[in-house]
Amino acid sequence: MPSTVLAIETSCDETAVAIAQGRTILASIVTSQIITHQRYGGVVPEVASREHVSAVGEAIAQALDAANIGWAEIDAVAATCAPGLVGALMVGLTAAKTLAMVHGKPFLGIHHLEGHIYASYIDKPSLAPPFLCLLVSGGHTSFIQVRGASDYVILGKTRDDAAGEAFDKVARLLGLGYPGGPVIDKVAQSGNPKAFPLPEGKISLPEGGFHPYDASFSGLKTAVLRLIEKLKPAGDLPVADIAASFQATVVRALVKRAIACAQDHHLTTIVVGGGVAANSRLREQLQIAAAANGLTVIFPPMKYCTDNAAMIACAAVAQFEAGRRSPLTLSAQSKLALTEISQLYTDTNHRAKAESI
Ligand code: KG4
Ligand code: ZN
Repeated sequence: MPSTVLAIETSCDETAVAIAQGRTILASIVTSQIITHQRYGGVVPEVASREHVSAVGEAIAQALDAANIGWAEIDAVAATCAPGLVGALMVGLTAAKTLAMVHGKPFLGIHHLEGHIYASYIDKPSLAPPFLCLLVSGGHTSFIQVRGASDYVILGKTRDDAAGEAFDKVARLLGLGYPGGPVIDKVAQSGNPKAFPLPEGKISLPEGGFHPYDASFSGLKTAVLRLIEKLKPAGDLPVADIAASFQATVVRALVKRAIACAQDHHLTTIVVGGGVAANSRLREQLQIAAAANGLTVIFPPMKYCTDNAAMIACAAVAQFEAGRRSPLTLSAQSKLALTEISQLYTDTNHRAKAESI
Protein backbone atom coordinates (compact mmCIF):
# COMPACT_ATOMS: atom_id res chain seq x y z
CA MET A 1 0.00 0.00 0.00
CA PRO A 2 1.57 3.36 -1.01
CA SER A 3 2.04 6.02 1.67
CA THR A 4 -0.53 8.75 2.27
CA VAL A 5 0.67 12.32 2.81
CA LEU A 6 -1.20 15.57 3.49
CA ALA A 7 0.67 18.55 2.00
CA ILE A 8 0.27 22.32 2.25
CA GLU A 9 1.49 24.84 -0.37
CA THR A 10 1.57 28.57 0.43
CA SER A 11 4.71 29.79 -1.37
CA CYS A 12 3.01 32.58 -3.33
CA ASP A 13 -0.63 33.48 -3.92
CA GLU A 14 -2.49 30.15 -3.76
CA THR A 15 -3.47 28.53 -0.47
CA ALA A 16 -3.47 24.84 -1.35
CA VAL A 17 -3.87 21.60 0.57
CA ALA A 18 -3.83 18.11 -0.94
CA ILE A 19 -3.72 14.48 0.09
CA ALA A 20 -1.79 11.98 -2.07
CA GLN A 21 -1.67 8.23 -1.77
CA GLY A 22 1.38 7.27 -3.79
CA ARG A 23 0.89 9.02 -7.13
CA THR A 24 -2.89 9.13 -6.76
CA ILE A 25 -4.48 12.37 -5.55
CA LEU A 26 -7.28 11.80 -3.05
CA ALA A 27 -8.02 15.52 -2.63
CA SER A 28 -6.65 18.79 -4.02
CA ILE A 29 -7.97 22.10 -2.72
CA VAL A 30 -6.67 25.36 -4.24
CA THR A 31 -7.88 28.72 -2.96
CA SER A 32 -6.57 31.47 -5.23
CA GLN A 33 -5.88 35.02 -4.05
CA ILE A 34 -5.65 36.35 -7.62
CA ILE A 35 -8.70 38.64 -7.27
CA THR A 36 -7.14 40.34 -4.23
CA HIS A 37 -3.76 40.88 -5.90
CA GLN A 38 -5.25 41.99 -9.23
CA ARG A 39 -6.02 45.35 -7.59
CA TYR A 40 -2.27 45.91 -7.17
CA GLY A 41 -1.19 44.46 -10.55
CA GLY A 42 0.91 41.76 -8.87
CA VAL A 43 1.39 39.77 -5.67
CA VAL A 44 1.79 41.88 -2.50
CA PRO A 45 3.74 39.65 -0.04
CA GLU A 46 2.22 41.09 3.15
CA VAL A 47 -1.31 40.67 1.82
CA ALA A 48 -0.53 37.12 0.62
CA SER A 49 0.60 36.06 4.14
CA ARG A 50 -2.57 37.43 5.73
CA GLU A 51 -4.80 35.73 3.15
CA HIS A 52 -3.01 32.41 3.73
CA VAL A 53 -3.65 32.69 7.48
CA SER A 54 -7.36 33.14 6.95
CA ALA A 55 -7.69 30.41 4.27
CA VAL A 56 -5.42 27.58 5.39
CA GLY A 57 -7.60 26.11 8.18
CA GLU A 58 -10.64 25.79 5.93
CA ALA A 59 -8.53 24.31 3.08
CA ILE A 60 -7.18 21.59 5.43
CA ALA A 61 -10.70 20.72 6.58
CA GLN A 62 -11.95 20.61 2.97
CA ALA A 63 -9.09 18.34 1.86
CA LEU A 64 -9.74 15.84 4.66
CA ASP A 65 -13.42 15.95 3.82
CA ALA A 66 -12.91 15.46 0.07
CA ALA A 67 -10.50 12.54 0.61
CA ASN A 68 -12.90 11.13 3.17
CA ILE A 69 -10.11 9.93 5.44
CA GLY A 70 -9.09 10.51 9.03
CA TRP A 71 -5.74 11.21 10.65
CA ALA A 72 -5.20 7.51 11.41
CA GLU A 73 -4.77 6.89 7.66
CA ILE A 74 -2.28 9.73 7.08
CA ASP A 75 1.39 8.71 7.29
CA ALA A 76 3.07 12.14 7.18
CA VAL A 77 2.47 15.88 6.87
CA ALA A 78 4.40 18.06 4.43
CA ALA A 79 4.65 21.71 3.41
CA THR A 80 6.53 23.74 0.83
CA CYS A 81 9.41 25.39 2.69
CA ALA A 82 11.46 26.97 -0.16
CA PRO A 83 11.77 28.92 -2.40
CA GLY A 84 9.05 31.56 -2.22
CA LEU A 85 7.80 34.52 -0.20
CA VAL A 86 9.08 33.86 3.33
CA GLY A 87 6.01 35.22 5.15
CA ALA A 88 3.71 33.19 2.91
CA LEU A 89 5.79 29.99 3.23
CA MET A 90 5.80 30.34 7.01
CA VAL A 91 2.01 30.05 7.18
CA GLY A 92 1.85 26.64 5.48
CA LEU A 93 5.01 25.44 7.19
CA THR A 94 3.73 26.35 10.67
CA ALA A 95 0.36 24.75 9.96
CA ALA A 96 2.02 21.51 8.76
CA LYS A 97 4.42 21.35 11.72
CA THR A 98 1.54 21.92 14.13
CA LEU A 99 -0.54 19.14 12.54
CA ALA A 100 2.49 16.79 12.60
CA MET A 101 3.03 17.51 16.31
CA VAL A 102 -0.62 17.27 17.33
CA HIS A 103 -1.24 14.01 15.42
CA GLY A 104 2.20 12.49 16.06
CA LYS A 105 3.16 12.24 12.36
CA PRO A 106 6.53 12.66 10.63
CA PHE A 107 7.06 16.07 9.00
CA LEU A 108 8.67 16.88 5.64
CA GLY A 109 9.66 20.20 4.07
CA ILE A 110 9.37 20.16 0.28
CA HIS A 111 11.20 22.23 -2.34
CA HIS A 112 8.61 24.03 -4.49
CA LEU A 113 10.41 23.24 -7.75
CA GLU A 114 10.66 19.55 -6.90
CA GLY A 115 6.88 19.79 -6.53
CA HIS A 116 6.57 21.20 -10.07
CA ILE A 117 8.69 18.29 -11.37
CA TYR A 118 6.49 15.79 -9.49
CA ALA A 119 3.30 17.25 -11.00
CA SER A 120 4.08 15.06 -14.01
CA TYR A 121 4.32 11.94 -11.83
CA ILE A 122 0.68 12.26 -10.77
CA ASP A 123 -1.30 9.29 -12.11
CA LYS A 124 1.79 8.08 -14.06
CA PRO A 125 3.08 5.00 -12.25
CA SER A 126 5.66 4.25 -14.96
CA LEU A 127 7.40 7.65 -15.18
CA ALA A 128 10.96 7.36 -13.89
CA PRO A 129 14.26 9.23 -14.34
CA PRO A 130 16.35 9.92 -16.29
CA PHE A 131 14.54 12.71 -18.13
CA LEU A 132 14.82 16.41 -18.88
CA CYS A 133 12.54 18.75 -16.97
CA LEU A 134 11.73 22.09 -18.56
CA LEU A 135 10.61 24.07 -15.52
CA VAL A 136 8.89 27.30 -16.52
CA SER A 137 7.08 29.29 -13.83
CA GLY A 138 6.64 32.85 -12.63
CA GLY A 139 9.91 32.71 -10.69
CA HIS A 140 12.02 30.14 -12.55
CA THR A 141 13.05 28.99 -15.99
CA SER A 142 15.39 26.00 -15.80
CA PHE A 143 16.45 23.06 -17.92
CA ILE A 144 16.99 20.29 -15.37
CA GLN A 145 18.55 16.90 -15.93
CA VAL A 146 16.67 14.60 -13.54
CA ARG A 147 19.10 11.73 -12.92
CA GLY A 148 17.27 10.06 -10.03
CA ALA A 149 15.13 10.86 -6.99
CA SER A 150 16.34 14.25 -5.72
CA ASP A 151 19.33 14.01 -8.08
CA TYR A 152 19.22 17.13 -10.22
CA VAL A 153 21.69 18.87 -12.53
CA ILE A 154 20.81 22.34 -13.81
CA LEU A 155 21.88 22.36 -17.47
CA GLY A 156 20.55 25.83 -18.30
CA LYS A 157 18.51 28.69 -16.88
CA THR A 158 17.38 32.23 -17.52
CA ARG A 159 19.97 34.85 -16.71
CA ASP A 160 17.31 37.45 -15.84
CA ASP A 161 13.48 37.30 -16.01
CA ALA A 162 11.69 33.95 -15.76
CA ALA A 163 9.41 33.04 -18.68
CA GLY A 164 6.24 33.53 -16.62
CA GLU A 165 7.56 36.85 -15.31
CA ALA A 166 8.06 37.97 -18.94
CA PHE A 167 4.44 37.04 -19.71
CA ASP A 168 3.27 39.01 -16.64
CA LYS A 169 5.38 42.10 -17.49
CA VAL A 170 4.39 42.16 -21.17
CA ALA A 171 0.70 41.73 -20.25
CA ARG A 172 1.05 44.80 -18.00
CA LEU A 173 2.66 46.77 -20.87
CA LEU A 174 -0.28 45.79 -23.10
CA GLY A 175 -2.80 46.72 -20.38
CA LEU A 176 -4.05 43.14 -20.13
CA GLY A 177 -3.89 42.77 -16.33
CA TYR A 178 -2.51 40.12 -13.99
CA PRO A 179 -1.61 37.25 -14.21
CA GLY A 180 -0.32 37.79 -17.72
CA GLY A 181 0.27 34.25 -18.98
CA PRO A 182 -3.33 33.06 -19.36
CA VAL A 183 -4.55 36.36 -20.85
CA ILE A 184 -1.68 36.61 -23.40
CA ASP A 185 -2.30 32.97 -24.32
CA LYS A 186 -5.98 33.81 -24.98
CA VAL A 187 -5.44 37.13 -26.80
CA ALA A 188 -2.65 35.60 -28.95
CA GLN A 189 -5.12 33.06 -30.42
CA SER A 190 -6.44 35.80 -32.73
CA GLY A 191 -3.02 37.34 -33.50
CA ASN A 192 -0.31 36.69 -36.09
CA PRO A 193 2.77 35.17 -34.41
CA LYS A 194 4.95 36.41 -37.30
CA ALA A 195 3.62 40.01 -37.25
CA PHE A 196 6.63 41.48 -35.40
CA PRO A 197 10.10 39.91 -35.34
CA LEU A 198 11.41 40.11 -31.77
CA PRO A 199 14.81 39.20 -30.25
CA GLU A 200 15.02 35.75 -28.69
CA GLY A 201 17.64 36.71 -26.05
CA LYS A 202 20.86 34.81 -26.55
CA ILE A 203 23.67 34.71 -23.98
CA SER A 204 27.08 35.53 -25.51
CA LEU A 205 30.05 33.52 -24.30
CA PRO A 206 33.42 35.23 -23.60
CA GLU A 207 35.13 32.78 -25.98
CA GLY A 208 32.65 33.67 -28.75
CA GLY A 209 29.35 32.12 -29.81
CA PHE A 210 26.31 31.68 -27.58
CA HIS A 211 25.44 29.62 -24.54
CA PRO A 212 23.56 26.58 -25.86
CA TYR A 213 20.95 26.45 -23.08
CA ASP A 214 20.87 29.64 -20.97
CA ALA A 215 18.13 32.10 -21.89
CA SER A 216 17.32 35.79 -21.32
CA PHE A 217 13.87 37.35 -21.46
CA SER A 218 14.44 40.90 -20.19
CA GLY A 219 15.67 42.14 -23.60
CA LEU A 220 12.55 40.71 -25.21
CA LYS A 221 10.36 42.59 -22.72
CA THR A 222 12.23 45.83 -23.52
CA ALA A 223 11.83 45.16 -27.26
CA VAL A 224 8.05 44.84 -26.74
CA LEU A 225 8.07 48.13 -24.79
CA ARG A 226 9.92 49.88 -27.67
CA LEU A 227 7.48 48.37 -30.18
CA ILE A 228 4.50 49.67 -28.18
CA GLU A 229 6.10 53.13 -27.95
CA LYS A 230 6.61 53.12 -31.73
CA LEU A 231 3.10 51.90 -32.63
CA LYS A 232 1.02 53.79 -30.06
CA PRO A 233 1.10 57.24 -31.69
CA ALA A 234 -0.30 55.67 -34.90
CA GLY A 235 -3.59 54.78 -33.15
CA ASP A 236 -5.01 51.52 -31.78
CA LEU A 237 -2.33 49.04 -30.71
CA PRO A 238 -2.39 45.69 -32.54
CA VAL A 239 -2.53 43.94 -29.15
CA ALA A 240 -3.28 40.44 -30.49
CA ASP A 241 -0.40 40.56 -33.00
CA ILE A 242 2.05 41.85 -30.36
CA ALA A 243 0.91 39.19 -27.85
CA ALA A 244 1.18 36.44 -30.48
CA SER A 245 4.64 37.58 -31.63
CA PHE A 246 5.91 37.82 -28.04
CA GLN A 247 4.50 34.41 -27.11
CA ALA A 248 5.95 32.79 -30.25
CA THR A 249 9.40 34.21 -29.42
CA VAL A 250 9.36 32.90 -25.83
CA VAL A 251 8.14 29.50 -27.00
CA ARG A 252 10.78 29.31 -29.77
CA ALA A 253 13.54 30.07 -27.22
CA LEU A 254 12.24 27.42 -24.79
CA VAL A 255 11.62 24.69 -27.38
CA LYS A 256 15.02 25.11 -29.08
CA ARG A 257 16.88 24.86 -25.78
CA ALA A 258 14.81 21.97 -24.40
CA ILE A 259 15.41 19.88 -27.54
CA ALA A 260 19.15 20.69 -27.50
CA CYS A 261 19.44 19.80 -23.78
CA ALA A 262 17.64 16.49 -24.28
CA GLN A 263 19.62 15.49 -27.35
CA ASP A 264 23.03 16.53 -26.00
CA HIS A 265 22.41 14.56 -22.79
CA HIS A 266 20.82 11.50 -24.43
CA LEU A 267 17.50 12.05 -22.64
CA THR A 268 14.52 10.73 -24.57
CA THR A 269 11.77 12.20 -22.39
CA ILE A 270 11.02 15.87 -21.69
CA VAL A 271 8.78 16.60 -18.70
CA VAL A 272 7.38 20.14 -18.49
CA GLY A 273 6.44 21.82 -15.21
CA GLY A 274 5.38 25.21 -13.80
CA GLY A 275 2.64 27.69 -14.68
CA VAL A 276 3.93 28.34 -18.22
CA ALA A 277 3.47 24.62 -18.96
CA ALA A 278 -0.22 25.60 -19.32
CA ASN A 279 0.65 27.70 -22.39
CA SER A 280 -1.16 26.37 -25.47
CA ARG A 281 1.55 27.34 -27.96
CA LEU A 282 4.31 25.80 -25.83
CA ARG A 283 2.29 22.59 -25.56
CA GLU A 284 1.75 22.49 -29.33
CA GLN A 285 5.23 23.51 -30.51
CA LEU A 286 7.17 21.33 -28.06
CA GLN A 287 5.03 18.36 -29.01
CA ILE A 288 5.80 18.96 -32.73
CA ALA A 289 9.55 19.48 -32.20
CA ALA A 290 9.85 16.48 -29.89
CA ALA A 291 8.02 14.17 -32.32
CA ALA A 292 10.30 15.36 -35.15
CA ASN A 293 13.32 14.41 -33.03
CA GLY A 294 12.00 11.09 -31.70
CA LEU A 295 11.47 12.44 -28.17
CA THR A 296 8.51 12.04 -25.81
CA VAL A 297 6.96 15.03 -24.02
CA ILE A 298 4.91 14.86 -20.83
CA PHE A 299 2.82 17.82 -19.71
CA PRO A 300 1.08 17.70 -16.35
CA PRO A 301 -2.73 18.07 -16.45
CA MET A 302 -3.61 21.79 -16.68
CA LYS A 303 -4.80 21.97 -13.05
CA TYR A 304 -1.38 20.77 -11.83
CA CYS A 305 0.68 23.21 -13.97
CA THR A 306 0.10 26.30 -11.82
CA ASP A 307 0.70 26.20 -8.07
CA ASN A 308 -1.14 23.45 -6.20
CA ALA A 309 -0.50 21.12 -3.27
CA ALA A 310 -1.11 17.85 -5.16
CA MET A 311 2.37 18.12 -6.70
CA ILE A 312 3.86 18.87 -3.26
CA ALA A 313 2.08 15.84 -1.77
CA CYS A 314 3.31 13.64 -4.66
CA ALA A 315 6.93 14.78 -4.08
CA ALA A 316 6.47 14.31 -0.33
CA VAL A 317 5.34 10.68 -0.80
CA ALA A 318 8.58 10.00 -2.74
CA GLN A 319 10.74 11.65 -0.07
CA PHE A 320 8.85 9.91 2.74
CA GLU A 321 9.19 6.50 1.09
CA ALA A 322 12.92 7.16 0.58
CA GLY A 323 13.14 7.46 4.37
CA ARG A 324 13.64 11.22 4.51
CA ARG A 325 12.26 13.35 7.34
CA SER A 326 12.67 17.06 8.18
CA PRO A 327 13.31 18.47 11.63
CA LEU A 328 10.54 20.59 13.19
CA THR A 329 13.14 23.38 13.39
CA LEU A 330 13.19 23.64 9.57
CA SER A 331 12.70 27.25 8.51
CA ALA A 332 11.24 28.89 5.41
CA GLN A 333 13.79 30.08 2.83
CA SER A 334 13.13 32.59 0.07
CA LYS A 335 15.89 31.06 -2.08
CA LEU A 336 17.23 27.52 -2.18
CA ALA A 337 18.79 25.82 -5.20
CA LEU A 338 17.19 22.55 -6.24
CA THR A 339 20.65 21.00 -5.98
CA GLU A 340 20.76 21.88 -2.24
CA ILE A 341 17.59 19.99 -1.43
CA SER A 342 19.31 17.44 0.83
CA GLN A 343 19.73 20.12 3.51
CA LEU A 344 15.97 19.90 4.17
CA TYR A 345 16.28 16.35 5.47
CA THR A 346 17.88 14.31 8.18
CA ASP A 347 18.25 11.25 5.98
CA THR A 348 17.12 8.43 8.25
CA ASN A 349 18.21 5.82 5.69
CA HIS A 350 21.78 7.05 5.70
CA ARG A 351 21.76 7.33 9.49
CA ALA A 352 20.39 3.82 9.90
CA LYS A 353 23.09 2.47 7.58
CA ALA A 354 25.85 4.37 9.42
CA GLU A 355 24.61 3.14 12.78
CA SER A 356 24.64 -0.51 11.63
CA ILE A 357 28.29 -0.37 10.49
O1 KG4 B 1 4.03 27.84 -11.26
P1 KG4 B 1 3.23 29.07 -11.01
O2 KG4 B 1 1.77 28.94 -10.69
O3 KG4 B 1 3.84 29.92 -9.86
C1 KG4 B 1 5.22 30.03 -9.64
O4 KG4 B 1 5.79 29.11 -9.00
O5 KG4 B 1 5.77 31.02 -10.16
O6 KG4 B 1 3.42 29.98 -12.30
C2 KG4 B 1 2.79 31.21 -12.44
C3 KG4 B 1 3.22 31.81 -13.76
C4 KG4 B 1 2.73 33.23 -13.95
O7 KG4 B 1 3.82 34.02 -14.38
C5 KG4 B 1 1.67 33.08 -15.06
O8 KG4 B 1 1.56 34.24 -15.86
C6 KG4 B 1 2.21 31.91 -15.85
O9 KG4 B 1 2.71 31.02 -14.85
N1 KG4 B 1 1.17 31.24 -16.63
C7 KG4 B 1 1.19 31.16 -17.98
C8 KG4 B 1 -0.02 30.52 -18.37
N2 KG4 B 1 -0.72 30.21 -17.25
C9 KG4 B 1 0.04 30.65 -16.18
N3 KG4 B 1 2.10 31.60 -18.87
C10 KG4 B 1 1.83 31.40 -20.18
N4 KG4 B 1 0.69 30.82 -20.63
C11 KG4 B 1 -0.24 30.36 -19.77
N5 KG4 B 1 -1.35 29.79 -20.25
ZN1 ZN C 1 5.16 27.40 -8.74
